[in-house]
Amino acid sequence: MRKVRTALMIGVFVFALGCSKSDNSEGAPMDDNEITDPNAVSYQRDIRPIMQGNCLSCHGNPPTQNAPMSLTTLNEVKNAIETRGLLSRINSTTSPMPPNGLMPQTARALIAEWANQNFPE
Ligand code: HEC
Repeated sequence: MRKVRTALMIGVFVFALGCSKSDNSEGAPMDDNEITDPNAVSYQRDIRPIMQGNCLSCHGNPPTQNAPMSLTTLNEVKNAIETRGLLSRINSTTSPMPPNGLMPQTARALIAEWANQNFPE
């Protein structure tokens, strides 16, 4: 009796595995929206490293070299976009940020697109 039950449970388990596996392989590529959407921008993955590499030497916490604010968190970057003209400063030729020259176009476009997508985590 015990053996039969165990066998049955293994059977159910394998069946369930088989199902979920075939679900994945047959699903349309866009099923996993969050992970596979090639247009989704993420603060953690995309924006934070850009800030780290280009801004935090001055806009750290606390800010240095006379920078007026920190850009170390999602909310700080969001606030700077909404209230301090961050997007125009990173594209400005007359008062660029960072001050020693503009970042590559891809990085600047990514920040604009992140704002456009309403600042996803
Ligand atoms: C070498 C230091 C330095 C770096 C690197 C730097 N900044 Fe700045 N930033 C400053 C200083 C100093 C000011 C204040 C003077 C000014 O507005 O030009 C400032 C001002 C700003 C302002 C305007 C703030 C306000 O309220 O007027 C924004 C927005 C800004 N920075 C964004 C950035 C971003 C985004 C980066 C990275 C892409 C960056 N900065 C990199 C030094 C820096």
